[in-house]
Amino acid sequence: MSYKIAVVVGSIRRDSFNKKLAQALAKLAPQEFEFSLSRIDDLPLYNQDDDANQADQVKRFKAEIAAAQGVIFVTPEYNRSIPGVLKNAIDHASRPYGKSAWAGKPAGVIGVSVGAIGTALAQQHLRNVLAYLDMPTLGQPEMFLQNKEGFFAEDGGIGADSQKFVQGWVTKYVAWVRQHAAVAKAA
Ligand code: FNR
Repeated sequence: MSYKIAVVVGSIRRDSFNKKLAQALAKLAPQEFEFSLSRIDDLPLYNQDDDANQADQVKRFKAEIAAAQGVIFVTPEYNRSIPGVLKNAIDHASRPYGKSAWAGKPAGVIGVSVGAIGTALAQQHLRNVLAYLDMPTLGQPEMFLQNKEGFFAEDGGIGADSQKFVQGWVTKYVAWVRQHAAVAKAA
């Protein structure tokens, strides 16, 4: 079986470290896992008035989530929470009421920050949202990453000191997705 994983990056900054982390994660995944970045920078601001007439970009984003067997959120921390652009994307794909694209998708949460707490508080806020959206979210290992010298390797991968740590997370997440896919298949 092959698995599609939608990777949602909570920063739309051109040289985002989290985008770089998302790209590095894709290289650590087994062959049957296809990690694809879902863009969120072209989504309009969420407005409930538009629920019955979602923009094409919103429909595209929702379709990408719906087609995936899992979702990884790679997010920075903004003012001790998740960036507004990420919450905007999450809200879009959760609506209209009863038509959320998120429910049941096994989720992974990871992030890199320049600060020492490595997005811990943003991730905790995000977990709260994902619980409401009925996304089974990998609990351990937690991945609070700090972008210190050498965190990223020259080739864009994860640097030697952190590679094993991050690989361990990808391996656990992949097993989490397989487990949920097997349960869904048996149901
Ligand atoms: C930040 N940054 C930040 N870092 C952190 O560890 N905790 C925080 O609460 C915040 N708050 C915050 C707010 C705003 C508005 C900005 C722009 C930045 C710093 C942040 O970790 C840093 O800019 C990262 O590089 C952002 O991630 P990307 O864009 O590189 O993926």
